[in-house]
Amino acid sequence: MDFDKEYREALALAEGELQGCFLQDGPQRELLEAMRYSLLAGGKRVRPVLALKFCEALCGEMEPALDYACGVEMFHTYSLIHDDLPCMDNDELRRGKPTCHVKYGEWLALLAGDALQASAFERLAASQRTSPAANGRACALLARAAGCAGMCAGQYLDIVNVGRELDEGILEQTHTWKTSALLEAACLLGLTASPAEPSPQQWAAAERYARLLGLAFQIRDDMLDVESTEEELGKPIGSDAGNGKATFATLYGLERCRELVAALTEEAKQSVRETFDCPEFLCALADSLAERKN
Ligand code: IPE
Ligand code: IPE
Ligand code: MG
Ligand code: MG
Ligand code: MG
Repeated sequence: MDFDKEYREALALAEGELQGCFLQDGPQRELLEAMRYSLLAGGKRVRPVLALKFCEALCGEMEPALDYACGVEMFHTYSLIHDDLPCMDNDELRRGKPTCHVKYGEWLALLAGDALQASAFERLAASQRTSPAANGRACALLARAAGCAGMCAGQYLDIVNVGRELDEGILEQTHTWKTSALLEAACLLGLTASPAEPSPQQWAAAERYARLLGLAFQIRDDMLDVESTEEELGKPIGSDAGNGKATFATLYGLERCRELVAALTEEAKQSVRETFDCPEFLCALADSLAERKN
């Protein structure tokens, strides 16, 4: 298995589809431009790749999950635009470019995020690559990951606890909600898109993989906020400290974080190794995210 080649292929599939989004003309063209500005600014595209590859792991093809993959990336981009707003993390750089509100102003960035979120659900609901029943399940999955027992709950805990010292339990809950929930939705959307039904064991394994991967992913994100550079990361360094956020890096220090990420990654790999026929890509992806530099 050539991991880089497979990642590039999945990424190109998603990227090609995203490039065609929001090109219509109309009196709202500036809103569409702001949406495209953030959506097409780069980014690792981890969530669409997960959706495409979990679909492939079940049925041998990525294409059935292509609309779900685009939807989850639109949703993720909305979450980043809002996360960067002055009333939240107040950051000015994202994906190596000025953040949406710096470029377009706050009210337009707010609306670009709102519209991307709505478009994500529209993309899932209207997919012709999957059945109406699957599309309904896909919308419910994303809604659950998005809401008051998912990403919004995580973002709430992240900000309401500013300036407080947190224990591992509350920090883990924050990370699970704000980051793992959407990664989990991406994986499960891939399974939902597949015409071949997942077994209950495969469904549970994907949930477990995503939860562990998501926790490792956010701990790595906390580490990079301390030890990376703005050029490499494409977003500001020291944002968490500047905002008085408790993170895994402040709780444990970088060395212990490294060990935690490695242990969570091993566990994540273990959960898919025994349940999917070709788990090599998913395992290699977990390894690459544990070592990622941006
Ligand atoms: C950033 O997500 C927000 C977190 C959940 C840590 P990514 O690290 O996936 O950001 P992009 O999509 O590559 O820009
Ligand atoms: C954000 O976490 C998670 C989201 C729901 C967007 P962070 O605030 O740590 O993400 P970055 O570091 O700004 O990408
Ligand atoms: Mg944040
Ligand atoms: Mg942030
Ligand atoms: Mg961060």
